[in-house]
Amino acid sequence: MLCLSNNLTFLRVSLLAYSPLAMGILSGKYFSPHGAPTDARLNLFKGRYSEGESRYNLSNTIIKEATKAYLDIARKYGFHPVSLAVAFVLKHSLVASAVFGATKLWQLQEVLDACKVELNPEIIADVDKVHTTYPNPCP
Ligand SMILES: *[C@@H]1O[C@H](CO)[C@@H](O)[C@H](O)[C@H]1NC(C)=O
Repeated sequence: MLCLSNNLTFLRVSLLAYSPLAMGILSGKYFSPHGAPTDARLNLFKGRYSEGESRYNLSNTIIKEATKAYLDIARKYGFHPVSLAVAFVLKHSLVASAVFGATKLWQLQEVLDACKVELNPEIIADVDKVHTTYPNPCP
């Protein structure tokens, strides 16, 4: 973003949040009581996203526990987990936009709804607690 102010020119660099849903695992769909949906990307294209499958591997205890903790926060405050994840990245002052994938209309709606979600300091504190416990679960 280029800002002109008092004859000074600043170049402000904004960030683009890539994969705020961690290839869908933060949506909670892989924790569904009926098992993960067969048409979910990590099931449908199993073996074709090796880097992502390894990075967001829910067989890894730390990744699984961190994901469950974020899903618990969403449940506690009555948000869809997608809303929590997208609203969290968009709240960061340096983030200008987020890239996400939606193959269904309801998924797009969840992300659009997230843009209206206001995360209060209590919710942010809960997210920060999980982040402190699991600082970098998906390096
Ligand atoms: C996921 O983790 C399990 C357990 O550590 C491992 O056996 C499996 O190979 C991993 N999968 C991928 C795609 O990295």
